[in-house]
Amino acid sequence: MGIVIDGEVTEIVLRVPYDRDIHLGELLVMDDNVFDGRRYLLRVTSIGYGYEAAENDWAERAAGSIMLMDGREEYTIYHRERRLYKEVKCLPMGRIEGNEIRPVKTIPSHFSSSREPEPQDYRVLERYMGDIAVGRLRSGERALDIEAGIDGNTFPYHIGIFATTGMGKSNLMRVLAGSTMRSGRYGMLILDPHGEYYEGPPSEPGLRDLNSRRLRVYSSRNMRGISPLQVSYREIYTSDMASIYSVSEAQREALGIFWRAFGRDWLREVHDHSFEELVERFARIERIHENTLSVVKRRVDNIFDMGMVSEDPDYSVSNQIIADLMEGRVVLVDTSGLREEEELLISSVLARRVFEHWQNLFLEHHDEFQRAPPVLITLEEAQRVLQDAKRGVFPRIAREGRKFKVGLCAISQQPKLIHEHILSQLNTLFIMGLSDDKDREKLGSASKQDLSPLRNEIKTLNVGEAIITSPFTPFAIPVSIYSFEEFVRNYREEQEGTRIEHDDGFV
Ligand SMILES: Nc1ncnc2c1ncn2[C@@H]1O[C@H](COP(=O)(O)OP(=O)(O)O)[C@@H](O)[C@H]1O
Ligand SMILES: [Mg+2]
Repeated sequence: MGIVIDGEVTEIVLRVPYDRDIHLGELLVMDDNVFDGRRYLLRVTSIGYGYEAAENDWAERAAGSIMLMDGREEYTIYHRERRLYKEVKCLPMGRIEGNEIRPVKTIPSHFSSSREPEPQDYRVLERYMGDIAVGRLRSGERALDIEAGIDGNTFPYHIGIFATTGMGKSNLMRVLAGSTMRSGRYGMLILDPHGEYYEGPPSEPGLRDLNSRRLRVYSSRNMRGISPLQVSYREIYTSDMASIYSVSEAQREALGIFWRAFGRDWLREVHDHSFEELVERFARIERIHENTLSVVKRRVDNIFDMGMVSEDPDYSVSNQIIADLMEGRVVLVDTSGLREEEELLISSVLARRVFEHWQNLFLEHHDEFQRAPPVLITLEEAQRVLQDAKRGVFPRIAREGRKFKVGLCAISQQPKLIHEHILSQLNTLFIMGLSDDKDREKLGSASKQDLSPLRNEIKTLNVGEAIITSPFTPFAIPVSIYSFEEFVRNYREEQEGTRIEHDDGFV
């Protein structure tokens, strides 16, 4: 398959037969031919042409001859096997030692040869693949017969899912949610601004097709059998409004004054008072400008008009959401019926409620906190709320959530817009096809592993292909993500299987 001809500790160069079909990202195994039992795991990072010829310009001259013959007769390359080869550069990913992968600190001996990995070679990788499977380990473009994923206990260390539109972010999110349901050990709050998770895109399955009791759904749209999404007006703070809407300094001050005047009833009070009453009370004494009052009042009224805010101060879906997450369920919140600002407002309020609940357990109820599952809050188009490292609840979760077992999963097609302090908090990155150089660069520097040898592979990722990088595995893991359709099929078969075992009285 390939023999070492050159290189150093961080890069091994192989001579590979000219007719061997080899691809970027392929995994190879190398058995050291001097030190018995020493095995290396390699990953192809670059492929080039190699010629063995006495004269440096042999290839050029041969090409000239081929051109002159213009296809009329066949140009014969004597000793083709000898003359032609591929020069393949590999990244040594690790040294396989018993049941472990160790860092590589030496080179394989001269002329050691590489081969395709066999199942027993990558069995040792299984322990790094986590309990939340998202696909299969990928060698080049080929999916190997070993499941790959992440450890749910790393949810609180935050996740980023990055790809250009159409490369498979939402599909991956559905698989991640399905796997989390299957495990039952973690809570997941999915904020779904496009309303695409429950039913799935046209002609593709959605989360409902898993028929899982571990799924709870709330929707801002009127959907049969789905609970309506409503929060209490007392849950919306002036700071939520200030972090989502683009507010002027004057509006920010006005919000502060309302908060001092009405406390948590501010939204209701501003809504219930007429504009004239507000002017009467606030324009003169507190010197809020009438224009400012009118803008804030209009926004508050809009929030009520959306029907997302219940008139009953004690009615809110958040308590039920928290209870479900505590029991290891996946809660899907479809905000697709809302305008962007209201969608972000409701999403922020729910995320804050969940964050504060876990924080409160940590601070006040130690035993309950120990029992509480880690929870992951996922947000599409996350660049919208993560450009500023300080403002709003999502940056706060990225900064502080870890301690309280609350993770953020930021999904975005433009990671370069996310503040670098936030990016650096995302410990696990799913890097998928990204067409923009700047996006890839940004992720390269945010990653906890050195991705520079993988630059070529990352550039050429296809739909559904990903590299998972995190500090929790000895190297970045190439995966082929399940299509959600395939995931649903497997999941159902598995469910059928356990049901049959039940019938036979096995379990
Ligand atoms: N892992 C995958 N395997 C097979 N097809 C996929 C996979 N991921 C995505 N696709 C296909 O690509 C389409 C776009 O994927 P999607 O997840 O909606 O991309 P994004 O959310 O990044 O825009 C999907 O509708 C599906 O047909
Ligand atoms: Mg999408």
